Amino acid sequence: MRHLPLRTPRVTGRRLLGALIAGLLAAGGLGVSARAVPVTVPAPVPVPAPAASGHEDLARTPPMGFNNWNSTHCRAEFDESMVKGIADLFVERGLKDAGYEYVNLDDCWALPERDADGQLVPDPERFPNGIGAVADYVHSKGLKFGIYTSAGTKTCSSIGFPGALGHEYSDARQFAGWGVDYLKYDNCNNQGVDAKQRYTTMRDALAATGRPIVYSICEWGQNKPWEWAGDLGQLWRTTGDISDSWSSMSSIMKANLELAPYARPGGWNDPDMLEVGNGGMTDTEYRTHFSMWSIMAAPLLIGTDLRTAPESAFEILTNGEVVAVDQDPLGKQGEVVASQDGRWVVSKELADGSRAVALFNEGSRAQRIETTARAVGLPGARGYTVRDLWKHSDTHTTGTIAATVPAHGTVLVRVHADRKWAQYPPAVDVSAGGGTVTEAGRTERITSEVTDLGGTAARSVSVSLTVPEGWRAAPASATSARALRPGGTLATDWDVTVPAGTPAGDRDLTLTAEYRTRSGTRITSSVPVTVRVGVPLPAGESALSDAGPLSASNGWGPVERDRSVGESGAGDGGPLTIGGTTFAKGLGVHAPSSVEYYLGGACSTVTAQVGVDDETGDRGSVAFEVWADGTRAASTGTVTHADPARAVSADVSGADVVRLVVTDAGDGMDYDHADWADVRVTCA
Ligand code: GLA
Repeated sequence: MRHLPLRTPRVTGRRLLGALIAGLLAAGGLGVSARAVPVTVPAPVPVPAPAASGHEDLARTPPMGFNNWNSTHCRAEFDESMVKGIADLFVERGLKDAGYEYVNLDDCWALPERDADGQLVPDPERFPNGIGAVADYVHSKGLKFGIYTSAGTKTCSSIGFPGALGHEYSDARQFAGWGVDYLKYDNCNNQGVDAKQRYTTMRDALAATGRPIVYSICEWGQNKPWEWAGDLGQLWRTTGDISDSWSSMSSIMKANLELAPYARPGGWNDPDMLEVGNGGMTDTEYRTHFSMWSIMAAPLLIGTDLRTAPESAFEILTNGEVVAVDQDPLGKQGEVVASQDGRWVVSKELADGSRAVALFNEGSRAQRIETTARAVGLPGARGYTVRDLWKHSDTHTTGTIAATVPAHGTVLVRVHADRKWAQYPPAVDVSAGGGTVTEAGRTERITSEVTDLGGTAARSVSVSLTVPEGWRAAPASATSARALRPGGTLATDWDVTVPAGTPAGDRDLTLTAEYRTRSGTRITSSVPVTVRVGVPLPAGESALSDAGPLSASNGWGPVERDRSVGESGAGDGGPLTIGGTTFAKGLGVHAPSSVEYYLGGACSTVTAQVGVDDETGDRGSVAFEVWADGTRAASTGTVTHADPARAVSADVSGADVVRLVVTDAGDGMDYDHADWADVRVTCA
């Protein structure tokens, strides 16, 4: 699985098509009201009793620290000076104070061969003073030190460094001798030996050293370690490797969310290390990554080279209020309260009786997400305080918890049933529908709503709408109110004019509400409002790949026009080829993919020849779907590399938007290079 000829990692990356806003589109998100969020409480799962050995005391809260892998892999900059530099920064930049403790080495620290005595030999170029010296340095800073090897004959790197299978006791002794406090034990080259057996032997070998060593079980969730690894170590990987992309991070998050019942003090689900700061996601996405890892009580291992990381990474990683959610002593993993059309509500019970609540928007457009204090597990009360853990501000609500959340964003709050609620300002819910579709050159009416969610009045309420340059937003009704009583709403109609010539795509407007509390404090709240700008397609039959899409998202690399997806770069595919037949026109995509075009109700059919591109060799299986607004107008079922091009025809009469979707057909996204060959549309 590791080094594939077509480099499609186990969980792959997403790119943008041109300058268009991209992202995983939540299924059926078009025109669906964002208000109704049904409650689905996961069925309880039996949890194995913790081991009696006391080893769980080693990580009563999820381990926090650093590991070099996500930033360096095996590149030369992974060396003694890097490790020391990170330890220095932990102290200088407040990370140690924020709770980060372990400085860990990943693969490639050793020489490929053991010495004549069977001992591991540190790579003299990377670690000229040996591993013990680095460990001493890390310890001298009041930090702890971790190392890596594999429960196999070799580690995972293609160079293949020595693994510990058959050498467990001597390797564990060597680690303990160096002062190792944490071992990540990987799964490569395991020779088919039973996982439980391999991981148990190392557990015993570590115990035999007499040194307390946190034991991180890294078998990628292959043998359901959440069912047995709690008897052996303090954390277990639940998935394949993370990469620095939205699609990788969010798919791992969703897999790990399902395992909430298994987490407990001393035994944690590990959805892999952090990518915050590595550059492949936006800051909004990194805040989602960090918020969701924290609400899942995941280990927080920084995976960026802090010596060169942007300031925004430090701001995210040292947000003490978010870290406190992760490190809460009750040790519960947050549970999914509701999930519909990409709107997720996750709630984590905290030791002080409050709840951390994440309103996570998986969709590629701003959406309003709503829940209630009761739904997230809080007791009935007249009022609740709501602490926003990213804005660091307090409001109160009488029960509704709601926010308009940007695409791929997360609002993270901490909610208390609190007798003193009335001393905080009322929370105000600011929203304006979901993804209005319009055309360049048109004026469209949008209605904004500002609702007082609290038990006290919001005074001197006013609302404004900021539009991109060249656009106009003219209010058609009142933009202010002297006061909103509890539950009251200021609704405002706006006529929004999109200038002619605006290219197709989603644009965010900014809706801002201002109000005063009883005591006169002024509060401002701004939210994004997505407007989808379409450009009419030519009359008659035309190639969709010649038109500008409304949105495009892809599981790996960018969506390509008239070429296959190829590698992760733009324009690096080949001719679209299915079963030996090549096509001059069409779209090259990679599952999971979604490409939307504006039809404006003027088109009748979309046709295409679809299949897995021949560039995958003998791999890949996907399913194609054509959606006309909220209706699935055509679907293929599973199509594999062995199938010839299949003709698809969809009736899209009357639809505003057509969405071309490719799924992984349920078996993961590896090698899922898919072609919408010769995709054409007929319009009036
Ligand atoms: C595996 C692990 C990664 C990393 C690499 C090192 O893929 O899952 O986290 O340790 O090996 O080669």
